[in-house]
Amino acid sequence: MKLILICALFVAVAYAEDKVDFISNESNVEYNGKFYYLYELLNGSKATQKGELKQIGKDQYGEAVQGYFSYPSDDGKVYSISYTADENGYRPVGDHLPTPPPTPESVLKTLKYIAEHPYKPSEKKH
Ligand SMILES: *[C@@H]1O[C@H](CO)[C@@H](O)[C@H](O)[C@H]1NC(C)=O
Ligand SMILES: *[C@@H]1O[C@H](CO)[C@@H](O)[C@H](O)[C@H]1NC(C)=O
Repeated sequence: MKLILICALFVAVAYAEDKVDFISNESNVEYNGKFYYLYELLNGSKATQKGELKQIGKDQYGEAVQGYFSYPSDDGKVYSISYTADENGYRPVGDHLPTPPPTPESVLKTLKYIAEHPYKPSEKKH
């Protein structure tokens, strides 16, 4: 009898440690590829994401997703990321994330020249 009680206590403690304290928890999935979820935890972490099926080619479909998450860090700051993920990849944006340096003017000019003067093999001179 004592053994069963001790076992039950261990199970209860293990369960309590795994339990996540939610402030809110919503989600919805539709059969047309649309989905949505949102949760907020007692420790300040939150996340939300929504997505829908998008035609990206003749017979090609992909999920287009937008989301956001944030969490308080040990350094006292709250870090947040918003992102888009679709046929063009995953694109996160956040104040703490590095952004690429501006493209130099000479490179922009070169790219413009290349775009305006495409290579044509038939014009090759021998
Ligand atoms: C908040 O709680 C979740 C679930 O227990 C955990 O995964 C996450 O690391 C916690 N976040 C912080 C900032 O403590
Ligand atoms: C959060 O909500 C979803 C959808 O209603 C549910 O399936 C899931 O079990 C919930 N999670 C918790 C930990 O309550």
